[in-house]
Amino acid sequence: MIKKCLFPAAGYGTRFLPATKAIPKEMLPVLTKPLLQYGVEEAIDAGLSTMAIVTGRGKRAIEDHFDVSYELEHQIKGTSKEHYLTEIRDVINRCTFSYTRQVEMKGLGHAILSGETLIGNEPFAVILADDLCDNHEGHGVLLQMVKLYEKYQCSIVAVEEIPPQDSNKYGVIAGEFIDEDIVQVENMVEKPDPKDAPSNLAIIGRYILTPDIFDILRETKPGKGGEVQITDALLEQAKQGKVIAYKFKGKRFDCGSVDGFVEATNYFYNKA
Ligand code: UTP
Repeated sequence: MIKKCLFPAAGYGTRFLPATKAIPKEMLPVLTKPLLQYGVEEAIDAGLSTMAIVTGRGKRAIEDHFDVSYELEHQIKGTSKEHYLTEIRDVINRCTFSYTRQVEMKGLGHAILSGETLIGNEPFAVILADDLCDNHEGHGVLLQMVKLYEKYQCSIVAVEEIPPQDSNKYGVIAGEFIDEDIVQVENMVEKPDPKDAPSNLAIIGRYILTPDIFDILRETKPGKGGEVQITDALLEQAKQGKVIAYKFKGKRFDCGSVDGFVEATNYFYNKA
């Protein structure tokens, strides 16, 4: 059973400066809801109840968001505006939140390793909240992956097909299809040039990881861009046949980029 979800939210978010100078990009709203809340709701829908958040700066904005604001509650209670708080109240009531800090921004792999103290020795999910996913017929991407974990009991990465010229923005996988939407991963390359990409299947910000990943991460040297890459650690698991990639059903927006963020905003506005 997967109970915990880790949210690395310590990156600098430089592509959104100056908006991200004092608040993390995971707190930027699509319509009225911060990206991180969408991620937490997806985790709750997948049956997870412990949210573990790795922060760097802007910690207070995140902690305050997932906490009761007594002053606000007092002001709004019994008024016509009370319904604006319904969703966030529900989120706060349904799960617990714990926090740790990534002291130096040494990459996603390092951020995940920083979360070990909150996760312990059990399989866990990872959501990168800047990848915003809309569900498919009521099934969130993480829920789809949790169901797969019950069958395969190994690390799982969510992948989608990308245009070849975009391969240098993603971790790209290669392997054999063992089911319609499932690949047994044999190789992974972080941000390859299009000519070196082993396939057109790119990893997006949803993972299920088995806890041996922490020992591997401890030994993982900085890779592409001088950062500790989760892709390099996953490749070690893949070599032991312990990673599958899942072509998820649903829609995903790269809200770490301005274009993706605008696209997501328009999509959710038109859907609302
Ligand atoms: P990104 O590389 O997209 O985030 O990392 P970034 O570095 O904040 O963005 P830019 O490129 O400067 O605009 C993907 C995810 O990993 C987290 C980020 O917060 C984001 O959710 N991350 C990345 C960390 O938590 N720590 C890191 O050292 C790096």
